Amino acid sequence: MNGDAPALGQYFTPPAIVELALDLIGLFGGELAGARVIDPACGPGAWLRASLKRGAEFAVGLDCDPEMISRWVESGLLADGALLCVADGLTDITGSEGAFDVVVGNPPFGADLRCDGTEALRALGRCYHLHRGASAPRERREPTLAEMRRLARFPTEVLFIERFVQLCAPGGWIAVVLPEGIFANQRWRYVREWLLERVTVQAVVALPRATFREDSTTARTCLLVARNIPPAAGHRVTLAELKSCETHALETLLDHISRGGDLPTDTPDGLDPPPILRDRGENSR
Ligand SMILES: C[S@@+](CC[C@H](N)C(=O)[O-])C[C@H]1O[C@@H](n2cnc3c(N)ncnc32)[C@H](O)[C@@H]1O
Repeated sequence: MNGDAPALGQYFTPPAIVELALDLIGLFGGELAGARVIDPACGPGAWLRASLKRGAEFAVGLDCDPEMISRWVESGLLADGALLCVADGLTDITGSEGAFDVVVGNPPFGADLRCDGTEALRALGRCYHLHRGASAPRERREPTLAEMRRLARFPTEVLFIERFVQLCAPGGWIAVVLPEGIFANQRWRYVREWLLERVTVQAVVALPRATFREDSTTARTCLLVARNIPPAAGHRVTLAELKSCETHALETLLDHISRGGDLPTDTPDGLDPPPILRDRGENSR
């Protein structure tokens, strides 16, 4: 983690978790080969590299940190054909809504909004709904002053959830790592409801605390895999907990899910993480 990490939310997803996420997309019927892929907050680009290896038609990555350029060059990601750009993933790709078959990543959490001045904030507020809160009317309109004040301190990871859905083509796939609080806290219930009206959540996998240890955080996170179509009546979400990032744990989990094992499921009105986490009452981040 570099010195800017708290402001940028730089916690990079280990390749093993990226592979797990892409395997799960495949398991639930998605296809990486020939897909148009984007990570709108891509960091060094682990998701893009793995997607290209699996035959993606192209892979687009944005990151607001210019220091990523040297990492893209040194890692060979640019040479491998990824389309990379220093840009704001929340604001700088307007017009790309619905343009991607697969939207992946681990959006910055605890990061600052990159918005200078009232007009920029107003423009950002116009593009999103979730910062307006649970009871706001659904139609798009100018943000009120109170909504703009709320937006200025609003968690970037929640805006990115909306961005992921905006960018995904109808019927496309989303794989995203999010703080566990999004799945468990009462405060974010309206976000879960918003999401569950729009997408078919296939799985929520609680990740081990050690996942981001290299970036000095043991925060609880979950991987969500979803298809961008509204859920069928009675659809159930697979809930699972990954015990470690070791190969055998990943293989066991994939095997279990692929055999439709005795994992807990949830109807799509709660999206609570697996019971084992709920029982501990740990809602970090
Ligand atoms: C949690 S890291 C994850 C990076 C990568 N997706 C991964 O999973 O390894 C989030 C990244 O988002 C970048 N970032 C923060 N705010 C951003 C914004 N508004 N637009 C684009 N990138 C942003 C940070 O620089 C950081 O590299």
